[in-house]
Amino acid sequence: MLHLTKGCVGCLLSRRAVLALTNSGARMSSHDHQEVSDNLDMSQPMYWDRLDTPLPDRPWKDVLDSTDKSLKQKKGPWTALSKEEKITLYRLKFNHTYPEMKRPSHEWKTVIGGMFIVFGITGLVVFWQCHYVYPPQPHTFGKEWQAKQVQRMLDMRVNPIEGFSAQWDYKNKQWK
Ligand SMILES: *[C@@H]1O[C@H](CO)[C@@H](O)[C@H](O)[C@H]1NC(C)=O
Repeated sequence: MLHLTKGCVGCLLSRRAVLALTNSGARMSSHDHQEVSDNLDMSQPMYWDRLDTPLPDRPWKDVLDSTDKSLKQKKGPWTALSKEEKITLYRLKFNHTYPEMKRPSHEWKTVIGGMFIVFGITGLVVFWQCHYVYPPQPHTFGKEWQAKQVQRMLDMRVNPIEGFSAQWDYKNKQWK
């Protein structure tokens, strides 16, 4: 999955890069043309190692040397090929095998570690803010003040039917 996403992002990024290049190229005068054409030509078939694309647009090795060519032109049954020759043929076409693509990476450790580092830094910032930034708590947060407030609400009989003072037993002076 990670691999796929990376592939897609890479594809999008390189497309955008090419768009940017063509745009700036159109604006530039013709003597800049050489510089633009040195870049990767995205209109050509590309090679991607992707799980959802079993056959990329082009083989991995485009330029074959003489041994590759003689191997490709070999005639006869497949069983006549040695294991090494079969692997070489496969590697001409593909850079990575499926098991190589699916091999789990240790990237998650970096991700988790990075997350904890960010949490830690955030914790330090919050700790610093508690000391130096936030004003002291208002006096209405004090236990004593809150007790007095409850007492006053009971004295005023706030919501006597179903609300606050309905919970207070006035005879026995305790919560019901
Ligand atoms: C091809 O495989 C090699 C070795 O695994 C790797 O370093 C390289 O990035 C691969 N190239 C592409 C285009 O996938």
